[in-house]
Amino acid sequence: MAEKILVTGGAGYIGSHTSVVLQEAGYEVLIIDNLSNARADVPHRIAGISGIQPAFIKADLCNEKDLDYCFDRHPDIAGVIHFAAYKSVGESSAFPLKYYHNNLAGTINLLKAMQQANCRNLVFSSSCTVYGQPDQLPVSEEAPLKEAFSPYGNTKRICEEIIRDQAGASSLQAIALRYFNPIGAHHSAQIGELPVGIPNNLVPYLTQTAAGKRESLKVFGRDYNTHDGTGIRDYIHVVDLAEAHLEAIRRLLEQKNKEAFEVFNLGTGTGYSVLDIINTFEKVSGVRVRHEFTDRRAGDIESVWADPSKANRYLGWKARLGLEEMLRSAWAWEQLLGS
Ligand code: UFG
Repeated sequence: MAEKILVTGGAGYIGSHTSVVLQEAGYEVLIIDNLSNARADVPHRIAGISGIQPAFIKADLCNEKDLDYCFDRHPDIAGVIHFAAYKSVGESSAFPLKYYHNNLAGTINLLKAMQQANCRNLVFSSSCTVYGQPDQLPVSEEAPLKEAFSPYGNTKRICEEIIRDQAGASSLQAIALRYFNPIGAHHSAQIGELPVGIPNNLVPYLTQTAAGKRESLKVFGRDYNTHDGTGIRDYIHVVDLAEAHLEAIRRLLEQKNKEAFEVFNLGTGTGYSVLDIINTFEKVSGVRVRHEFTDRRAGDIESVWADPSKANRYLGWKARLGLEEMLRSAWAWEQLLGS
């Protein structure tokens, strides 16, 4: 019988892609999501890709009763992949309590419910933001954690610590996956990122500019110490990221993990600048992106890219899709958005 995986935030950007990959690998998927930042038709879209309707419960992790209901109805959950969280860096600085409450209480409630239900396998959605501006590049999991630049980043770090402590004190087995910059969309263009309002992140802003929804892309800073003066990040295709989650939950279910709490970087290992992104996008789409240079954005770091060798080795996973594919899929999604 297929093992059942609970995906919190499974209607969101990375959660929806991971749900598809899990189903395609033969797992049964149960999504819980409060739909605060996702469209209600996402489970249906997932079914449109995989041919299998995922079970869906509209539930909020901050409400313990919702979680009890979920685990009571599904006592056979073999593992949990936990995405549900607020994720806007800027908003988190304006409303820190909203972020601390949602992201921390949600994670604590989930851990309590898992303990009660004797469910011991957890994959947690973390971020390379926990490294701040690293002293050495590429950044490995050994790099010291730095003070977070935002309440959002701090919630990722604190949640990792909460999970680590719980794994040390109970039968919980957990893996935290530290993402670099996820972009792109499923090749079907049925699921992708759905920014609410004006996008904060580079690629959604860029595709909206190319589509004529925004006048001009602002390039934040051209005086960084990089090959063209613009900031460098390690962009990773969301489908590659989803596949890493499959390998991580498998590692736990097959009890191949070496420690009760493990962390892995998920990136390609290659950094690209903002201008590299614009140029590659123009090349694959044939559309020019109007852009202008402005001051650096507060809180931005200069450069970061991953050393993904630990994930390559222990998860047997490697990012396969290159920058052109990432941007081509992001553009296809933008053009189909809303249809
Ligand atoms: N950028 C622009 N113009 C824009 C938006 C971004 O020039 O309109 C630049 C940024 O300055 C940066 C790069 O594009 O150099 C990427 O910026 P994003 O906002 O897309 O991504 P960040 O690296 O700032 O943030 C991402 C995630 C966060 C996470 C962080 C970890 O969005 O959730 O990585 O480093 F915390």
